[in-house]
Amino acid sequence: MASLAAPLDTTGVPPVRSGQLYRRHRLFVRIGHWLNVLCLAFLVATGLNIFDAHPALYWGQYGADADDDRRWLEIGAATGPYGGTIGTTRIGPLRIVTTGVLGWNRAANGRLQQQGFPDWATFPHNRDLASARRWHFFFAWIFIANGLAYLAWGFATRHLQDEVWPRLRQLAPANIWRDVVAHARLRFPRGDDDKHYHILQRFAYAGTVFVLLPTMVLSGLSMSPGFDAAAGGVLPQLFGGRASARSIHFITMDLTLAFIVVHVAMVILAGPFNQLRSMITGWYDTGRPR
Ligand code: HEM
Repeated sequence: MASLAAPLDTTGVPPVRSGQLYRRHRLFVRIGHWLNVLCLAFLVATGLNIFDAHPALYWGQYGADADDDRRWLEIGAATGPYGGTIGTTRIGPLRIVTTGVLGWNRAANGRLQQQGFPDWATFPHNRDLASARRWHFFFAWIFIANGLAYLAWGFATRHLQDEVWPRLRQLAPANIWRDVVAHARLRFPRGDDDKHYHILQRFAYAGTVFVLLPTMVLSGLSMSPGFDAAAGGVLPQLFGGRASARSIHFITMDLTLAFIVVHVAMVILAGPFNQLRSMITGWYDTGRPR
């Protein structure tokens, strides 16, 4: 995500000369970032395959076929008003017709089928709970190891404290408002002003790194009987039960997808060549100051 705010040096880090290429991202961050993208792509696609085994969500300790009155979310198929089958998605009292995408969609072999998420969105591209679980756990452990390494490296080098965590002075309402207006006007920072993340970018990154992704991982681990036994059953209780943990796992996955959509949109708006070059080679051009 690119930063868009007006000038405010809040980092205390000495400015680099403007309008030049400079090393924006360290090798460790770059490798970790793209490994993260690979892991999340597989985690989402395999997770949707696993979800399709029981496309409903509950709050509390449990939830199964017989508890259909306790579902807060369910995806299914029904007979439509003119006959024929329609896909439906219900979130609380809100029921939406989602034919063709959720509930009733075309299988990889071209036939229509009753299934939560369609085959094209899942990995593997057919109903295969056993394989989906194996791939999910494989990428989950890589994702966790990568995340812990990023946190350890980030704290040790002060990257997280200096460059990602919001600085106290940036939290001034006037500065937040300035950044909101700059984003709304798509006014991209130039020169020294573009050397450090601004406040909205820090909110997004810090929220993702310190809240969203850890909650997604912990709610996932809550559903692992092996981990649960080793941890003395504490984790599911933290989320209010295993069924709640599953719901929170699903919600944090959706919020992560929302972050990625906005993140990639900002990369495109800010100049995809320069942005992607910085996350691949490290080199970033700040442009000349206005
Ligand atoms: C194809 C998808 C993605 C693209 C093209 C992309 C691109 C980028 C780019 C260009 C930057 C540098 C922004 C800048 O220097 O201003 C960046 C930073 C970052 N991205 Fe992504 N990203 C993607 C997916 C993700 C995902 C899935 C996550 C995690 C959920 C993520 C989290 C982050 C974080 C936390 C940073 C800041 C890293 C740091 O400075 O320590 N990105 N991304």
